[in-house]
Order: sequence, then C-alpha cells, then structure tokens
Amino acid sequence: MSFSDLKNLLVEDNDGVRQITFNRPKALNALNKDTLNECKRVLEATQKDASIDVVILTGSGEKAFVAGADINEMANADLEQARAFAQQGHDVMNTIEQLPQPVIAAVNGYALGGGTELALACDFIYASENAVFGLPEVSLGLIPGFGGTQRMSRKVPIGMARELVMTGAKIKADEALRIGLANKVLPLDALLSTAHKTAQTIRKQSSLAVEVAKKAMVEGHDLPLQQGCEIEISTFAKLFTSDHPKEGTSAFLEKRKPNFPATTRKS
Ligand code: CAA
Repeated sequence: MSFSDLKNLLVEDNDGVRQITFNRPKALNALNKDTLNECKRVLEATQKDASIDVVILTGSGEKAFVAGADINEMANADLEQARAFAQQGHDVMNTIEQLPQPVIAAVNGYALGGGTELALACDFIYASENAVFGLPEVSLGLIPGFGGTQRMSRKVPIGMARELVMTGAKIKADEALRIGLANKVLPLDALLSTAHKTAQTIRKQSSLAVEVAKKAMVEGHDLPLQQGCEIEISTFAKLFTSDHPKEGTSAFLEKRKPNFPATTRKS
C-alpha cells in the first residue's frame, strides 16, 4: 500500500519494520486533526499487513519527537469540539496499544503533552539524550487529553505521575530513564539504529508468540492477577494449535535455528 499522498507522516518499510515519522517540523511535529487522521489510516493498514513485524514511531528533525497536540486547534474549541478532538487522539493511542505488532517509540527530542502520550501508548520507549518528556497541559488550562492521566500512572510510580501532571514539569531523558518511563537513553545519532536493531531481534522470534504475548500483557494489565493469569493460560494453550511451539521446541532440541511459519493477518 502506498502512503506517498500523506502530508504529515513519512512511512518507510525496511526488512519487516515500518518506521512512521511525524513530519510537521515547522510545528515541531504537533498532532493536528489531519495528522491524527493520517496516523489512524497508516495504523489500520499496518494491523492487516503481514509483511510488517515491528513498528517504530519517531519525529522528523533533531529537535522534536512530537511537541504535543496542536495548540492552535484547541484554542477556540467548544465542548463538542474538545470532546471530538480528545476522542480522535484516544482512538489513535488505543489503535497503537492494540496493534498486533510491537511498537517502539524512538523519542528524538521534545515529547510534550500529546507527544508523551503517544510514547506512552507504545510498547516501550527509547530516548535520545536531548529528549524532553512532560505533560504540561495544566500550564495551558487543560489536562492531558490523549491518555496521559491514565497511562502515565500505569507506567511510572503513581506519585511521579501525579507530580508530572500537577506541576506540568518537563523532565530530561536521564530522569525519564530513572523513573522507568524510557528503557534506554542513547546519543541522537544512535537512536534509530538501536531501535531498528531491537526490532530485528524481535523479528527473530516467533511473530505469533510475540503478537499474542503483547495481547495478553495489554489485556491483562488492568485486571486482577488471577484473571490476567487465566488470559495467559488460554493464550499459552491456544498457541499449541499453531505450528510455532512445535518448530521452536524442535529447533532447540535439534540444536538448530528455528524457522517459524510466516505471519498471517486478517485483511
Ligand atoms: N502546537 C502547535 N504548534 C506548536 C506546538 C504545539 N503543541 N509546539 C510548538 N509549536 C510551534 C510553535 O508555535 C512555533 O511555531 P512558529 O514558529 O510559527 O511560532 C514552532 O512550533 C517552534 O516552536 P518554538 O518557537 O516554541 O520552539 P522553542 O524551541 O522555543 O520551544 C517547545 C520548544 C518547548 C517544545 C515549545 O514549542 C513548547 O512549549 N511547545 C508546546 C508544548 C506543549 O505545551 N505541548 C502540550 C500541548 S497540549 C496537549 O498536548 C493536550 C492533549 O493532551 C490533547
């Protein structure tokens, strides 16, 4: 599928990895309605695309990942417009979270407001040394509207999440690493290559096992432990209706590399 008509996103596919770059450099890649629409379209195509095993999100330029939701589009919103904008943002974040493929956020600069919320919807975050995270919405008379009040406190200790939301503080990459928001901090010029290297490590695993492991983790996250464990048991068992466990375990016992069956996705 071609995405050459997109105005605010660049989509590049290489070796089973789709890199989606937010590309509105004049507005530090801020998320306006058009960008969110384009993003939803790319994600919906990606979830059906068996040739894509991993997705990486990043921002264009060296300054920003995404500097937030577009402030111009919220400036004069009324109740219904504000609700529709928040709903649109949530639809995109939920689609990322529920994508069958793992999604890595390669945060290459400012990730504020909607930018931090976008990163929070990804499976994990790698940050460049110049990355800045934060939920500064209260300084604008707003609250996070694309999931920040909910996902931040599920990602970092609850007191940290509350302090970030209530003070609107901006934190640097090393602090994001310290509180568990980011998994790695890298020099800017090593950020994307490292994200792609991790993507290739994921690609060496059983794509089906990775997909259902993600689904079990996402679905179980907010459930009581025993209900989450039930999801794990049924997911574990269901894998045995595929050829993946047979190939993986046989390869181990025969001391060879596994050759897992190709991914299939519903189109
Ligand atoms: N929306 C729209 N435009 C934005 C923007 C945003 N979120 N962030 C930056 N821009 C624009 C600026 O208006 C500026 O445009 P002009 O050149 O036309 O004036 C351009 O990008 C460059 O920005 P700056 O000149 O401000 O660059 P800087 O280096 O001085 O500062 C910055 C960088 C600290 C990221 C600063 O731009 C900033 O604070 N941006 C806003 C960050 C923010 O508050 N994000 C949260 C938005 S609210 C939200 O996201 C709500 C939600 O959850 C739904």
